[in-house]
Amino acid sequence: MAFTWTKDLETGNALIDNEHKQLIKAADELVVACSQGKGRQEVGKAVEFLSNYTKTHFSHEEELQVKYKYTEYALHRNWHQGFLKEFENVAARLKEDGPTISLVAEVNTKVSQLITHIKTMDSKLAQFIQSSSK
Ligand SMILES: [Fe+2]
Ligand SMILES: [Fe+2]
Repeated sequence: MAFTWTKDLETGNALIDNEHKQLIKAADELVVACSQGKGRQEVGKAVEFLSNYTKTHFSHEEELQVKYKYTEYALHRNWHQGFLKEFENVAARLKEDGPTISLVAEVNTKVSQLITHIKTMDSKLAQFIQSSSK
């Protein structure tokens, strides 16, 4: 599966959208590295990059939520933490075992969940920020 940023992922918040573009690009690079049968080292590097970028992005969103006193901060932060924990588990196994078919399927599932999060929780957050900044 290839991942590309599409207009329906736009939240309207420039900072969040730019990071989402990078995030999806990094996810796609990881999936490409896996499907091209790249070595464990290269796949490991790609998954580590995605994992770090996700962490950074989540903390930026959480800073914004604190700044704007977002009413759903706890819920959103919980989702981020749960996702990271699960993703890091997949990442560790990917580094260990290389891109097996079942691990690649797990990566695809996690990225799809992240995309759903962008379309739902993140766009809700962006709307909140927008209405608070008026
Ligand atoms: Fe996000
Ligand atoms: Fe988020």
